[in-house]
Amino acid sequence: MKVTLIENGPIILDTTESITVQVDGESEERKGPLFLCRCGQSSTKPFCDAAHRKAGFEAAGAELVCG
Ligand code: FES
Repeated sequence: MKVTLIENGPIILDTTESITVQVDGESEERKGPLFLCRCGQSSTKPFCDAAHRKAGFEAAGAELVCG
């Protein structure tokens, strides 16, 4: 799995494995890549809906490789 923090943007979980996402008590299976909000402004949390752009979110980018 690779985790990428996009500069001024979301977290990307890039995996070929299925991931269980739980939101408000509901579970669903998703396949990567998943774009996760880290600015707190998305109306579709935990997923990014590009609201970070309008919010002017600023954060450093980074990359982590697991496994
Ligand atoms: S990081 Fe994109 S909406 Fe929050």
